[in-house]
Amino acid sequence: ILPKKVTIIEVGPRDGLQNEKAFIPTDEKKAFITALKKAGFKEMELTSLVSPKWVPQLADAEEIIESCVDVATRNFVLVPNEKGAKRLYASRANAVAVFVGTSDTFNKKNINKMTKESLRELKPLISDFKRKGYFVRASISTAFHCPYEGKISEEKTLSLCNQFVDYGVDELCVADTIGMATPTEVYSLFTKLKATFPNILISAHFHDTRKMGLANVFAALQAGIDRFDSSAGGLGGCPFAPGASGNVATEDVVYMLEQMGISTGIHLDELTKALAIIRPYLSRPLDSAYLKTTGQL
Ligand code: HMG
Ligand code: MG
Repeated sequence: ILPKKVTIIEVGPRDGLQNEKAFIPTDEKKAFITALKKAGFKEMELTSLVSPKWVPQLADAEEIIESCVDVATRNFVLVPNEKGAKRLYASRANAVAVFVGTSDTFNKKNINKMTKESLRELKPLISDFKRKGYFVRASISTAFHCPYEGKISEEKTLSLCNQFVDYGVDELCVADTIGMATPTEVYSLFTKLKATFPNILISAHFHDTRKMGLANVFAALQAGIDRFDSSAGGLGGCPFAPGASGNVATEDVVYMLEQMGISTGIHLDELTKALAIIRPYLSRPLDSAYLKTTGQL
């Protein structure tokens, strides 16, 4: 049985923008986030407290957090290490996302550490986050396929998830970083995740490289998932994962779910207005069937 209601976590301001080459003025990002909130999102990834040398687009993280955090929304900020944690504590953010790749090669390219080293560093940080009252999500990158190491076994992903659950996270966000997973793989892994971790929130994060994003959302729904990351306009991609394209477009996910009678709480007109704010600053075209079919592409 499919859920009657799902939560969409809008990742446009973070995953969506992190790969944009030309720096987008901070005020435009703020206006984008404010407009997205107006569209109804209760959970969003705002930005990342990562090295500005690695991800220059998000160098304005502190300013974004300062103006965009509000109590009515769960405002996720990505933190890769202790330095990021210090920056987090100095900010008003109320939710944190840590991220680790299943594969050492990807993790090294993304955060310059082997997966095990990252876990060692994150364990005490996660305890600290929990003690201080943050909501903590752990994003599992390359949960299905790695651009360097190929197919990832379910055992490997489940074991990484198990570590994070032991460390005390509130949510596992399981990601198809390069958009290679098929609905069969998605159904199988999420079914196992639900059975293994019945008391933890689990969300699905799909990139749409091979246009399997919506099919994968449906497969995850069938496996009992009711939390989905997506990005307005299909923006996004990880700069350290070659071959990755944008996230599955929020408006396509919302359109599909609402047509299926599953409530999302998101207003598509307002979402389109939010996109119009950021669009002039983007270096690549938007990718969304909803915008195309409503004559807005
Ligand atoms: P490093 O070079 O090993 O770190 O990078 P370091 O400790 O040697 O420091 C290097 C410099 O960065 C130093 O500055 C540090 O101070 C500074 P310098 O002394 O040279 O002037 N630094 C920092 N500055 C600000 N904030 C920090 C920070 N840490 C160090 N937190 C590091 C290691 C983790 C910093 C780097 O690799 C990094 O920033 N990586 C971020 C990568 C990233 O943001 N990737 C995209 C997000 S993950 C993703 O997209 C996947 C996801 O969407 C799910 C999916 O689809 O799979 C979540
Ligand atoms: Mg991503």
